[in-house]
Amino acid sequence: MTAMPAVQAGGLVKRFGDFHAVDHIDLEVHHGEIFGVLGPNGAGKTTMLKMLATLLAIDDGRAEIFGVDVAAQPHRVRQLIGVTGQYASVDEDLTATENLWLFGRLQGLRSADARATARRLLEQFGLEEAAERQISAFSGGMRRRLDLAASLITRPPLIFLDEPTTGLDPRTRGQMWDTIRELVNDGCTVLLTTQYLDEADQLADRVCVIDHGRKVAEGTPDELKTQVGDSTLQLQLAPGADQERAREVVLRVLGEEPVTTPESGRLNVPLDVADRAADVLIALRGAAVAIASVSVAKPTLDEVFFALTGHGAGPGHGGPGDAGDPGDAGDPQTAGGPTGAVPDQDATGPDDHATEVTR
Ligand SMILES: Nc1ncnc2c1ncn2[C@@H]1O[C@H](COP(=O)(O)OP(=O)(O)OP(=O)(O)O)[C@@H](O)[C@H]1O
Ligand SMILES: [Mg+2]
Repeated sequence: MTAMPAVQAGGLVKRFGDFHAVDHIDLEVHHGEIFGVLGPNGAGKTTMLKMLATLLAIDDGRAEIFGVDVAAQPHRVRQLIGVTGQYASVDEDLTATENLWLFGRLQGLRSADARATARRLLEQFGLEEAAERQISAFSGGMRRRLDLAASLITRPPLIFLDEPTTGLDPRTRGQMWDTIRELVNDGCTVLLTTQYLDEADQLADRVCVIDHGRKVAEGTPDELKTQVGDSTLQLQLAPGADQERAREVVLRVLGEEPVTTPESGRLNVPLDVADRAADVLIALRGAAVAIASVSVAKPTLDEVFFALTGHGAGPGHGGPGDAGDPGDAGDPQTAGGPTGAVPDQDATGPDDHATEVTR
């Protein structure tokens, strides 16, 4: 079993009418690794996960989970996987204990075993004190942890996590990452989707990037980031500054096109070496381009996307329902949570330092 890939898929296709939500994706997830699937809203992440998890029919291509064919033997595959959805799947009116007990019973555990498992999982996920509380009173982070706990009742060797930390505050995200690492230390393999480059960076051994249902890159997080430079110079031009001249200066100094947001006067410049930021600033001053603010940051997923695909990762690139103007895709001011997040009353949203898809 050790040498067998946890997931092996070739030419996976999912069509909705004429639209290809997943378009010939090949995927191999090694036993014991954390594999991240990165992509913007509508890229096809959830659809791909659902096909691998037997929840959606595979239209073309094939997939195996630990060597078991997904289409031919869905029942066997279901015994090998745990799935935690983008939408929490727990019942609001029940308590945490009742929920886990119910999931255990649905999975065929005897009542006493289901109760013992519920107790063990609540303890493992730091939810003992909330054990007898109704889910409706849970915070976003507690819900996510309970949802993950529910998918672990039968200790499956492969766990699918669909955006496990979207909408969580930074501390709760960190706890979730620790939990996921512990699962892998215990021998699990994890396939997760995320919109956050930093999440993939911190957590995933390998990552693939998907866009419009296609795989556009694969590698370790470091390999991915070096495709867009190690860091990014973010420039906010002063009101009235000549943006075209700024673009030309950057191109002349670095030989690279900056990613511009004309409406807000922003320029993002990939840097191989952080030192080169000074060259750009000096050249801009020489060209009399006034700057309001400057920062150097890690590349954002949007920049990874831009480098890989030549377009931004915002709405307007996802699918038939997203018929937006590609020109509106790049405003970093309006970075928002994904549409499918569990509604969190008390979560403060992603960490300020988190790099995420900008829209
Ligand atoms: N049942 C369906 N019928 C028609 N179109 C669908 C269906 N499910 C998904 N799609 C479309 O397929 C595309 C991929 O959707 P999917 O949910 O897989 O994206 P995603 O990468 O998970 O996005 P998000 O980050 O928003 O969760 C989208 O354009 C979506 O509108
Ligand atoms: Mg999704």
